[in-house]
Amino acid sequence: MAPSAGAVECSRARRAVCRRAPRRLVGRLPARLLARLLLAHLFVAQMLLAPCRAQPVADAPWASAPPRDAQPRALRRGARLFVNHCLGCHGARNVRWADLRALGLRDARIERDLMFGADSLAAPMRSALSAEQARAWFGVEPPDLGLIVRALATRQHRGADVVYSYLRAFYRDDATPSGWNNLIRPGVAMPHALWAQQGVRAARFEGPAAPGAARRFVGFTELSPGELTPRRYDADIADLVAYLQWMAEPEHETRVRVGSIVVIILILLGFLTWRLRVEYWKDLT
Ligand code: HEC
Repeated sequence: MAPSAGAVECSRARRAVCRRAPRRLVGRLPARLLARLLLAHLFVAQMLLAPCRAQPVADAPWASAPPRDAQPRALRRGARLFVNHCLGCHGARNVRWADLRALGLRDARIERDLMFGADSLAAPMRSALSAEQARAWFGVEPPDLGLIVRALATRQHRGADVVYSYLRAFYRDDATPSGWNNLIRPGVAMPHALWAQQGVRAARFEGPAAPGAARRFVGFTELSPGELTPRRYDADIADLVAYLQWMAEPEHETRVRVGSIVVIILILLGFLTWRLRVEYWKDLT
């Protein structure tokens, strides 16, 4: 994706606010009042949009998610990170707690270490945050993360790379409502969930401050260090992204395993056929 394509626009939060109001009123109010309200609404929408129109970023720090195929330990670490740091706001409704058995976790461990008193193993991974609360706090509902890796894939970037880059691209920005901004998704309404681990950073830019023009990202400045070294942080994010990928495609691991077995069988069969052919022609010539 071209750096920041979706981000040029205002955060979805504000757009949602702008879209919703007139629809609820239609049919209940006389046309004139409705027209006036619509005008007022447009005015308010402009006011809301003006300050939040995110400036696009050139040279955003895109990176590839390190592979974690067939590494159940990494996936288990990713699951723990997800539950501790993401589930507070995001659910994963296509995954049930019991599905975590596929990562080699016993029921007792799932219940003790991950569920924190959530209903039952058969229940989907739901966030405690209600849609109303989310809209009130962030102006937008956090997307379900169950399929996010597939949803964010573009022609240029694999979904895992988008999420990996995104989680490494937060920086402090006092101009946004949350106090955070993101180089991969400028203007995003999500605060940096892992700031304590990564530390607080400011971003340095070069280039025109003209409205609409892209600023060139040139580097981070550390404001306060995190609990983890940058390497450890990246490794954790790689585990977390691998877990998000597993949620989106739980059969991926099986496919890789079955695929490898099939290739080995085909090679063996090919070898046998070749030997057979050699034997066969030996008698004929
Ligand atoms: C405090 C609440 C909160 C927490 C905690 C949180 N998020 Fe978010 N997240 C949001 C909100 C709100 C949005 C929607 C932002 C928007 O659309 O502007 C979002 C959006 C996202 C997106 C979509 C970004 C895009 O490109 O549209 C991803 C991916 C994401 N979050 C991943 C995570 C992960 C992984 C974690 C855990 C490390 C996490 N979030 C923790 C609130 C949160």
